[in-house]
Amino acid sequence: MPTPAQEIQAQVSKELAGFVTIIVLGASGDLAKKKTYPALFKLFRNGFLPENTHIVGYARTKMTHEDYLGRVTQYIKADEKEVEKFKAITTYHSGLYDDDASWKSLDDYLVKNEAGRGVSQGHRNRVFYMALPPSVFIPVAKGVKKAVYSRDGVNRLIVEKPFGMDTESSNELGRELGALFKEEEIYRIDHYLGKEMIKNVMTMRFANIFFSQVWDRKYIDNVQITFKEPFGTEGRGGYFDDFGIIRDVMQNHLLQVLSLIAMERPISTESEAIRDEKVKVLKCIPPVTIDDALLAQYVAANGKPGYLEDDTLKNKQSRTPTFAALTLWVQNERWEGVPFIMKAGKALDDAKVDIRIQFRNVAGNLYKGAPRNELVMRIQPKEAVYIKFNNKQPGLSYQTIQSDLDLSYHERFTDMAIPDAYESLILDVLRNDHSNFVRDDELEAAWKIFTPLLHRIDSDSSIPVRTYPYGSRGPAELDGFVKKYGYDRSNANYTWPVQSVAPGNKL
Ligand code: BG6
Repeated sequence: MPTPAQEIQAQVSKELAGFVTIIVLGASGDLAKKKTYPALFKLFRNGFLPENTHIVGYARTKMTHEDYLGRVTQYIKADEKEVEKFKAITTYHSGLYDDDASWKSLDDYLVKNEAGRGVSQGHRNRVFYMALPPSVFIPVAKGVKKAVYSRDGVNRLIVEKPFGMDTESSNELGRELGALFKEEEIYRIDHYLGKEMIKNVMTMRFANIFFSQVWDRKYIDNVQITFKEPFGTEGRGGYFDDFGIIRDVMQNHLLQVLSLIAMERPISTESEAIRDEKVKVLKCIPPVTIDDALLAQYVAANGKPGYLEDDTLKNKQSRTPTFAALTLWVQNERWEGVPFIMKAGKALDDAKVDIRIQFRNVAGNLYKGAPRNELVMRIQPKEAVYIKFNNKQPGLSYQTIQSDLDLSYHERFTDMAIPDAYESLILDVLRNDHSNFVRDDELEAAWKIFTPLLHRIDSDSSIPVRTYPYGSRGPAELDGFVKKYGYDRSNANYTWPVQSVAPGNKL
C-alpha cells in the first residue's frame, strides 16, 4: 500500500510524465510572492513537483536574476539550504503583456530552456499561472495562446478572481477566454476550495451515516456561514471600493461553502460529478433580495481609521459595504424554508471563518430549556469540527448542560501539517483534478444569485448602508437580522472549547 505522499507523487508523474514548466505571469506582484511562490516551494520541498520542473517568472518589471530570486523567496520561511535548491529551478524573463514580440521572445526562451533540460518530445507541458490584475487577463491569454501555447504537450491555465463584476461582464470574460482555451485547460481558482476544512465538508457529509440522515429541512433550522476579518481595507481601498464585500468574498468564497453544504450527493468523487451537483444546487437559489440584506460600512474607532478615511480610497463619499449579512434560500425539496445566512465583514472584532448549522428544537422536549444542537465547522483559524450537544450535568443533579463533541485538529492531528490552500490547489492542477476549481456554468449560476442585488446597491442610494465601529461585532442591527430568520442565541453564554460546570451549579 503506497503512503499518501507516494500516491500523490505517482499521480503527478503519471499526469505529466515527469516534465513541466510553470510560467508565473505577473511574477513581480503581491499574489505571486505571497502565495504562488511559497506554495510552489512547499510542493518542491515535499517532492510533489514533477522530477523535471522549471519555474519561469514573467512580468513587465526589468530585474536581474538575483533581484528576482530575492523578491519571490522573501515570504518563504525555511532552511536556507532548501531555499537555495528551490532557487536553482527558477529563472525570470521580462516582457510586456500586450506585445506580440514579447510573447514570441518568451516562447523562444521556454523552447531553449526545455531543450537544455532534456524535455522529451510530446512532453513540453506548460502550466500558466495568471497572477495578474483583471485588466490584463484577456491580452495575456491571447498572447499566450498565440505564441506560447505548447503544441507538443499539455497546457493548463490558472486564473484568479475577480471573474467579472456581474453576470454580464463575467460571461463576456468567459466567452473571450473560452475562445482561446478549452474548459478542461482552465482552472479558475477560488482559494477557499483549497482550505482543509472546506475540502472536508464532503467527507463529513457523505462518509458519516448520522450526518446524512439529519441533513435537511426536517432537522436543520438554519445555517450560518460567517467570515470575520479584524483589519480594514487599509492600502487596498482602491481595489475594494469597486467591488465591496459581496463581490470580494461572498459571491465566490462563501457561496462555494454554501454549495458544498447544500448540494445533493454526487454520483462519484470525480470532479465533473461534484461540479454538476454544485451547479444544480446553485440553480435552485433565487436572486438575493434587498429585504434579505443588511449592509454596513465601518467607521473610525479605537484609534483606527474608518473606511472613508482610507488614503487609497478615491471616492470619499463611497457607500460601498464593507460588511453584509445576506440570507439565501435554496428552493428544493431538501431545503425549502431553511435560511442560509451569510455574514462577512472587514474591521470586525475577530479573525474567524466558520459554518454553523443549527438544528431544530427536540420535539416534546423532556428536558425543558435544553438548547438546540449545533454543528460547527471552524474553517480558520485552528481548524475544528464540534457539535454542541446536551448532556446530563455530571454529579447528583439531573439538570442538563450543554457541552461539545470536539475534534480540534491541532490537538488530535498533532503531527500533521495543514497545507496552505494554494499549495493544495496547484497540486490539483498538476494532477489534473478540477474538483476544487470553478466551472464556467457554476460561475454563471453564482453571479445570477447576486447580480440583481449588486446592481440595485450600485444604483439606488436610498438603500440604507448602516455603520459599525472598527473592531466591533458589526452593525447594531445584526442581532435583529439574524433573529428574524429563527437563529436561537439562547446558548450564547456557552464558549467553545473549554468548559466547566458553572460554580453555582456545583453540588
Ligand atoms: C480574498 C479577498 O479573496 O480573500 C480578501 O479579496 C480577503 O479581501 C481574502 O481578505 C481572505 O482570504 P483568507 O484565506 O485570508 O481567509
